[in-house]
Amino acid sequence: MLRLGVLVSGRGSNLQAIIDGIEARKVDARIRVVISDNPKAYALDRCKRHRIPARVVSREDFPSREEFERRIVSILKEEEVELVVLAGFMRILGRTFLSEFPNRVINIHPALIPAFQGLHAQRRAVEFGAKITGCSVHIVDESVDGGPVIVQAAVPVLPEDTEGTLSDRILKFEHRILPQAVQWFAEGRVRVEGRRVIVEGARYGTLPVNPELEKF
Ligand code: GRF
Repeated sequence: MLRLGVLVSGRGSNLQAIIDGIEARKVDARIRVVISDNPKAYALDRCKRHRIPARVVSREDFPSREEFERRIVSILKEEEVELVVLAGFMRILGRTFLSEFPNRVINIHPALIPAFQGLHAQRRAVEFGAKITGCSVHIVDESVDGGPVIVQAAVPVLPEDTEGTLSDRILKFEHRILPQAVQWFAEGRVRVEGRRVIVEGARYGTLPVNPELEKF
């Protein structure tokens, strides 16, 4: 069983998707600890409800980002965490953290990276007039939402979409691709070769187009 550490800052619906996957025995993992940088995160209530150990580590309690990161690393190491999942964790992690878990930190981002990296990805997709956006699970490196992609789901943008309606449609897919990616790690099927990630035995090749093509 893969030992997970999940980092959160807010609502925790992606955390919930992992919890549900584990409880439904679709994800062969155990959440050893959830760490929130925000004491008010709703994700912490979810932990209580599911009896998952949770800790709060606030950035402002540390004089530097390095010390903040070292504290989180020490908790994760204590719990012998094998995969770190950023599930709506709103801080950028640096080398101090990442060098401790090479290729073992993953993040969910609500866009098809490298499009709309950073904050407000859904709003920016609507404003840009994109016709397809989506979500990505990727390995975290020192770039912001730019590490090697494990899996992406394409989500159509509809003419009447607002930031809210689009976010909801994307979120449904976030809740599917994140637990799936965790399960691929649990099965030992994720191979990273430079920027390219191969999921051994996965089926590749479905191609979405939006709007639908008519004569072609
Ligand atoms: C999600 O949209 C995720 O892609 C982004 O932050 C949001 C977190 O939502 N990184 P939740 O806390 O998992 O509900």
